[in-house]
Amino acid sequence: MKPSRLFFLVLLAAAAFAVPPKSHSRSKSLTAYDDQIKQLLSRMTLDEKIGQMTQVDQHYLKDPNDIATLALGSVLSGGDSDPADGNSLEAWTDMYDGYQKIALKSRLGIPILYGVDAVHGHNNVLGATIFPHDIGLGCTRDADLVEKIGQITAQEVRATGINWAFAPCVAVPQDIRWGRTYEGFSEDPKLVKELGAAEVRGLQGTGLDDPDAVLACAKHYVGDGATVYGTGTGPNHLLDQGDMRIDEATLRKIHLQGYLSTIDAGVASVMPSYSSWNGLKDSANKKLLTDILKQELGFEGIEISDYNAIDQINKDYKQAIEASINAGMDMAMVTGQYRQYIQDLKELVQEGKVPMSRIDDAVTRILRVKYAMGLMDKKRSPLADRSLQATFGSPEHRNVARQAVRESMVLLVNKHKLVPLSRDAARIHVAGAAADDLGYQCGGWTIDWQGKLGRVTTGGTTFFAAIQQTVSKNTKITYSKDGSGAEGAEVGVAVIGEKPYAEMFGDRKDLSLDPADIATVKNLKKAGIPVVVILYSGRPLILDPILNDADAILAAWLPGSEGEGITDVLFGDYAPTGKLSFTWPRTMAQVPININNQKGKKYDPLFKYGYGLK
Ligand code: GLC
Repeated sequence: MKPSRLFFLVLLAAAAFAVPPKSHSRSKSLTAYDDQIKQLLSRMTLDEKIGQMTQVDQHYLKDPNDIATLALGSVLSGGDSDPADGNSLEAWTDMYDGYQKIALKSRLGIPILYGVDAVHGHNNVLGATIFPHDIGLGCTRDADLVEKIGQITAQEVRATGINWAFAPCVAVPQDIRWGRTYEGFSEDPKLVKELGAAEVRGLQGTGLDDPDAVLACAKHYVGDGATVYGTGTGPNHLLDQGDMRIDEATLRKIHLQGYLSTIDAGVASVMPSYSSWNGLKDSANKKLLTDILKQELGFEGIEISDYNAIDQINKDYKQAIEASINAGMDMAMVTGQYRQYIQDLKELVQEGKVPMSRIDDAVTRILRVKYAMGLMDKKRSPLADRSLQATFGSPEHRNVARQAVRESMVLLVNKHKLVPLSRDAARIHVAGAAADDLGYQCGGWTIDWQGKLGRVTTGGTTFFAAIQQTVSKNTKITYSKDGSGAEGAEVGVAVIGEKPYAEMFGDRKDLSLDPADIATVKNLKKAGIPVVVILYSGRPLILDPILNDADAILAAWLPGSEGEGITDVLFGDYAPTGKLSFTWPRTMAQVPININNQKGKKYDPLFKYGYGLK
């Protein structure tokens, strides 16, 4: 072998060793607590172990003292599960502290984990900073920003005492007719992998014992975004919770990526999906829940079921519980049937159908997280640190959300370089149902589970308020919902889009624009003025009917409470940088269309993945 080649090979080998070791997860291994846990396990009754494996929606607690008498491991507020005393920062914090104080009265005094869907800020609580939903964050391609958003979200969640956020959603939606498309960062597994890990780093902070950190939850494991159209759980639920029909290689290549990166980032809980893989419910699939997630990937934390997801496994609830717990589920998210769950699981153990080793593994994982979060440290109080309330919904937090809005905007069309607009225009006519409505602007999972139309559904700045604050004092802003009366204005701006929805209620057969929105754009055009369209949507919609009338089109996704981020782009304070995180189809005939499913087909969408005018 010629010396030069040998020399080259030696050099290459040396370089390989010089490569720094694979980045290790930021938080130390959760197994560090296993000796202490073994001690505690030996003192726990079967009832107390099963209690830890139970998470009850607080709305369904028959008696809050059940938290102590049943030694519940966790309580949650699912969608619309607000405090009885109303929706305010104080009421949420008092509710959390109230339940936690009861938990401390249990025989072993093990504190609860309290979970909420803080999926774009602490979005259940009035006055919280509401960030763009994940589809918009995907368009920023900005992992540092997503991490920062996670940090702020954790701070605002902890300001209410709550310590578990059911986020990030690392779905890789493949069919935008799915109602949860907007909860995904992208159709591209590489982008989901990167941003999912960034959100976990933000939420979980420097380590789970960080008082500003919350327990993150990678969801929904696995392939929730791969379900086939028509396999959803109901007549109108076309895709959601349906069946994924792909081979294992595809599952790993596309849908497992967000779990690899979030586990590496130290995520300490994972939520198995309602959906199925080739006919078998993920939440009862041992290969997924144990062989791959726990053994192959080395996940050391908690597998928390989705909301009553165990019920869907078998109409015989006890058999459903047996299948799910034996498959590897560690904690069940349940509502009114929580006593039944506890009784059935106890019987299953006594009948030898669920081995005690499985119970001990589940409780060990739950206690690992509680030790890691400092909840078992008697010197630390698990009650809310109300000093964090000072920054709840603060201008500083809102400025970060505003930056996220700026970076999420994608400029799709800009004829004659209409955008940026002049802030000195004599008159701008604003139109559209969504122009002055935080409900449209924030989308689902905002104060209400399904979101709710309305100008002021929480603290924030609508587009209409933002434009009035942005233009010069000589500029006249006029408004009509349908675009009429725009004659004489220098430019018309139509703010249109999807009404809010969440989960299966967003499944759609057709993604056409609302006819009223199309009419609004056409009315502006009839006034003989240039027309800008701003689109609020949880996914790409079919734009064909307005392409001739709109001189500029900005995709704003579901930007959240800080509408000024839109006017920053519209008036040129921030040059658009957003790039599509999903392929934008020309027609419904092309759907589903994405960068992963074009084998052999011509990829000819209206706008390609990654498109965005600068
Ligand atoms: C919902 C969603 C899940 C959420 C859970 C608790 O049905 O599927 O994303 O975290 O229930 O609200």
